[in-house]
Amino acid sequence: MTRPPRVIGEADILARLMSSVAPTRDSRRLERMEDLVSLCARRGFIFPSSEIYGGINGFWDYGPLGVELKNNLKATWWQRVVRERPDVEGIDTAIIAHPRTWEASGHVEHFSDPLVDCRACKKRFRADQLDEAGPCPSREGTSDHDFTEARQFNLMLQTQIGASEDAASMAYLRAETCQSIFSDFKRVRESSRQKIPFGIGQIGKAFRNEINPRNFTFRSREFEQAELEFFCHPSERERWFDYWRRERLRFHIDLGLDASSLRMREHGKDELAHYCNAAIDVEYLFPFGWQEIEGIHDRGDWDLSRHSEFSGKDLGVTDPQSKEHYLPTVIETSVGIDRTCLALLCDAYAEEDLGDGETRTLLRLHPAIAPIQVAVLPLSKKLAEPARAIEAELRRRFNVFYDEAGNIGRRYRRQDEAGTPFCVTYDFDTARDGKVTVRDRDSMDQERIGIPELAIYLGPRCEFGE
Ligand code: GAP
Repeated sequence: MTRPPRVIGEADILARLMSSVAPTRDSRRLERMEDLVSLCARRGFIFPSSEIYGGINGFWDYGPLGVELKNNLKATWWQRVVRERPDVEGIDTAIIAHPRTWEASGHVEHFSDPLVDCRACKKRFRADQLDEAGPCPSREGTSDHDFTEARQFNLMLQTQIGASEDAASMAYLRAETCQSIFSDFKRVRESSRQKIPFGIGQIGKAFRNEINPRNFTFRSREFEQAELEFFCHPSERERWFDYWRRERLRFHIDLGLDASSLRMREHGKDELAHYCNAAIDVEYLFPFGWQEIEGIHDRGDWDLSRHSEFSGKDLGVTDPQSKEHYLPTVIETSVGIDRTCLALLCDAYAEEDLGDGETRTLLRLHPAIAPIQVAVLPLSKKLAEPARAIEAELRRRFNVFYDEAGNIGRRYRRQDEAGTPFCVTYDFDTARDGKVTVRDRDSMDQERIGIPELAIYLGPRCEFGE
């Protein structure tokens, strides 16, 4: 696929691009999603939820490797956006909020997609994606669908609370995590004694009854978001919007995503969500095209004013100097955890030609987010005891996997496929020279390292650089 020109390129990002090291061997990037889907199922990254019942459309389970990748991504976001910043507080709120929340937020009224039915095959499609509907399997003499008129379909999932099943017990599973940040704004600001400008961040599940879940985990019905709502004076909105736009792009590059597969796309006026004054998407070039992984939004005072109105509580703030009472403007950064995991997996996937008809599949994940950081592989089962001692020591600091079974080449390949950046091999020389072999996943170079130096060697290599 030819790459369109980059839309923005700040100097530091370009500098990183220039310094990134190109693989030396012949390698092929991910072209077909099927290859990744199959690797993910085979190696236990991600697979259909309720698989033994045939799966459930739009829901996915993360296995042992997937959950580690996802947790590492969430921890990185939390570290960067919450912990490292004195001006951001973190919270963790209930998935189910008071139903009035969703009236105030505008979701009951506006959060819908246009839907059409095919009268013949009974399938449902998004009216704005009919070009992807494919042929109708149920009509005689034509493969055209027999579509109804489009109607609006609200995407919020509903549930009932308590024993009765009337309108009063109806509730929604949250469609975005940020609404409780707005309803908790006053409590969090007062208890943490934060002053404007400051932000509140949260990571959690969100639910949308998507008409057409697709592209693996890209569009799911249950997914995770990491959202920051940054509250500032209305006169400072542009400055903070620009600041967060840059910060967030930098985040994705630091994760190891190829900078030439990232771009920022500004929304046209007709695309803006009901709460938005301005929006820029961080997009990644997936095998199925450029798609959003994060949105940066200027929400103005839409949410705080609506929640003030619907709750009857004043959510405004008073400037301590000027005594001006005002509703802060909100700059939001909202990243999909599942979509970013998918981008990381697509980006990391490579098939390398090793010569003599041999190829290897590897995931070039950044060591700081790789599910397993170090694999300890004794050359023979007879060396298990000292190798186990190294494993136990390394486990205190790294996520470690131990494997003593089978041919060493095959064990390396399995770790390549899992994205493990370092393999430590205990061999028959180790007892004599006190050194193990450390094999680098990407270059396949091997280095002899003294056992006492192992953690010092691996430590900085398994962290994000400055
Ligand atoms: N609070 C603002 C908000 O929710 P959004 O653009 O609708 O904005 C933000 O969603 C991010 O959530 C998206 O960039 C995407 O990464 C993720 N997301 C949204 N819908 C999703 C879905 N159906 N499946 C997976 N991720 C989704």
